[in-house]
Amino acid sequence: RIVEWSLSEAEKSGYPHFMLKEIHEQPRAVMETLHGALHDQLIPEAVELLANAEKVYVTGAGTSFHAAEHFSITGTRLAGKPIISFISSEYDTYLPAAGEGDVLIVVSQSGETMDSLKALRAFKRKGVRVISVSNVIDSAIPRESHVTLYTRAGPEIGVAATKTFTTQTTLLTYLAVRLGEATGQLDAGEREGILRSISSAGELVKKALEDTGERAKKLASAISRSSSAYYLSRGVGVPVAKEGALKIKEIAYIHAESYPAGESKHGPIALVEKSFPVVFVIPNDTYLETLLLGNIEEMKARGAFTVGVGPEGSRAVELLNDYIPVPRTHWALTPLTHTIPLQLLAYYAAVEKGFDPDKPRNLAKTVTVE
Ligand code: G6P
Repeated sequence: RIVEWSLSEAEKSGYPHFMLKEIHEQPRAVMETLHGALHDQLIPEAVELLANAEKVYVTGAGTSFHAAEHFSITGTRLAGKPIISFISSEYDTYLPAAGEGDVLIVVSQSGETMDSLKALRAFKRKGVRVISVSNVIDSAIPRESHVTLYTRAGPEIGVAATKTFTTQTTLLTYLAVRLGEATGQLDAGEREGILRSISSAGELVKKALEDTGERAKKLASAISRSSSAYYLSRGVGVPVAKEGALKIKEIAYIHAESYPAGESKHGPIALVEKSFPVVFVIPNDTYLETLLLGNIEEMKARGAFTVGVGPEGSRAVELLNDYIPVPRTHWALTPLTHTIPLQLLAYYAAVEKGFDPDKPRNLAKTVTVE
């Protein structure tokens, strides 16, 4: 189960930046992670811990927190078990209610993030069992966990996380399916649908890369002229929208705010004026899609520049100024398809503005201090 990294994997292999190379490595990375999970003897152990847990918590920092939030949504929906997600530096707030019988999942690609390690230690002291999801064998967080499930993304050099996010969400979606089987809450049709989709994850990501690259590049030159943008969605699309906003902040220095679209009318819409960019992440879920149509209308009415990332043939297309179609698949796989153009949008916006996407200012790949 050792994940070995070769020297050639740590070189740019003809790509201008590590980030672009790593974006393009995603079809292989998600499939290797899935194959690893399918044969991982620790998955049943993790599932048993989760299924018998009184409370399940899931935490992480930055991009890993977005993967954690995705697990909270898919786990709740597929397994009928409430899963509490929190940002790892906020663990103090959640600690008083945690105790023996509970399980904490710590998501950290490096396995070394101090905020996440501190959350792990504090919960463990209270008798909580810990499952970690990491990309680095025997790093600090795996070493201190009861069970570790590894993603197989290979080394990620670009500071902005890309393939580690899609591999984390692949692994965690699979875990949510297995948890749904264990709790008996997952109906057979849905189970089959999601397993069929996840087994073609590599193809889906590959198609998303092929279909969206040029459009994302074109859109980047429009967006890079703005100093601010909103990234909105609902349900399973919310962590994906947050991840899109984080990417463009990190490397293109565009102020991007992400929140569940229903909140617009409770404040943020006050900022929207002519040409203000609003990116909608439209998940593969007709109910959420229908709800989003109203949110698109309200932004359009204020003259916003509205962009959609969503399934081919969406009803939203005619309402939007621009649309990037991604392959239609099961709703739980929204991070695999929709994240691709959002990563590319951030990448090309950074390049357009003359910044090096591999070396964003003020950021470190791994933060080992509090
Ligand atoms: C740093 C990086 C982020 C990353 C976060 C968590 O802030 O700049 O890209 O998402 O740490 O890292 P981890 O290794 O715990 O996933």
